[in-house]
Amino acid sequence: MASSLTATYPWTKVPLISCAPMRLIANATLAAAVSIAGGLGFIGAGSDISTLSSELFQARDILTKANISTNTGVLPIGVGFLIWGAPLADTLAVLRKPENIPAAVWLFAPRNPNQLKDWTEGVREATSNKTKIWIQVTSVREALEAVKLASPDVLVVQGTDAGGHGAAQGAGITSLIPETIDAVTEHCKSSSSAPLPFFVAAGGISEGRGAAAALCLGAQGVCLGTRYLAANEATIASGYRDAVLRASDGGTTTIRSSVYDQLRGTTEWPAGYGGRGVLNASYRDHEAGVTFEDNKKLYDEAVASGDKGWEGDRARLTTYAGTGIGLVKTIMSAEAITQEVRDNALKVLSSVSVSKL
Ligand SMILES: Cc1cc2nc3c(=O)[nH]c(=O)nc-3n(C[C@H](O)[C@H](O)[C@H](O)COP(=O)(O)O)c2cc1C
Repeated sequence: MASSLTATYPWTKVPLISCAPMRLIANATLAAAVSIAGGLGFIGAGSDISTLSSELFQARDILTKANISTNTGVLPIGVGFLIWGAPLADTLAVLRKPENIPAAVWLFAPRNPNQLKDWTEGVREATSNKTKIWIQVTSVREALEAVKLASPDVLVVQGTDAGGHGAAQGAGITSLIPETIDAVTEHCKSSSSAPLPFFVAAGGISEGRGAAAALCLGAQGVCLGTRYLAANEATIASGYRDAVLRASDGGTTTIRSSVYDQLRGTTEWPAGYGGRGVLNASYRDHEAGVTFEDNKKLYDEAVASGDKGWEGDRARLTTYAGTGIGLVKTIMSAEAITQEVRDNALKVLSSVSVSKL
């Protein structure tokens, strides 16, 4: 492993800004744009790899035109998998092709911890160790488990403010990152076979101040999901994106719950996870005791109404997003978002002065 996280990915700039592998939303165009801006973009394959080859083909085309040098012959992007559902053997068959080898593979949400070991060993073998392994964890316990079983190159430490799926019960990054770093460092010191991974912070970081704070907590890079929902290159319905832009005060206007999964029919998630999204009529009706059947009927009607299903007081459609939603105010290119977050994080870090405190 290189001496720093950005040295691992030679086209990236300090500090490393990455875009979360949001299933259906973070496709080739978004992932490539983030990497072209000196970050690391992830394609969100999720649990379904039916379009993976074509997404990689498209990403390769965009990245080749941008002429990014990776030194090691890998594609300068990552791919994220939800390993409770993604098929390992078929995935390895795609990643094994020399033209498809990504710089990073992101693993999240195993059905049982041993899947982390199987996936890590499989990817490392298929890509001759060229692909670095990122594992997203939601607690100190999961971090230690991941390090012991899979020795990842990077641990993405996801706090409870994160949009989309995460631990139903969890902590924010302010306490989670330092405690995780301490516990993992202690373990790696006492075990000669366990190299210390890099740490990336995720959850509630929408702009430079949050990114700077995460770096102060000890992370070497940051990952943003919610902010990139408002990127030009995100594959997202305009009603969804407008709902993100309208929302503020995310601690009160978003909620982590399994209600949206039930209504959408995405119920294969392992126990212990919930999806954070904008709190709307679907959740309020569920809490008020409306039966699942009635709520589902209203949900399906909202789906049929298209973008209107995200509008007004009776908006019902799933709008996965994190508590940092109030800091997402305008649609920008992924390149501009990546640069802005990176530049502002550096500005904040250099402007903190003890004399002003
Ligand atoms: C719309 C949306 C979809 C997501 N989908 C995935 C996914 O498919 N796989 C995954 O590992 N994480 C997914 N996440 C979670 C991200 O990996 C990440 O932890 C989160 O976006 C970070 O918090 P933030 O949204 O506050 O930036 C998703 C997040 C969002 C907002």
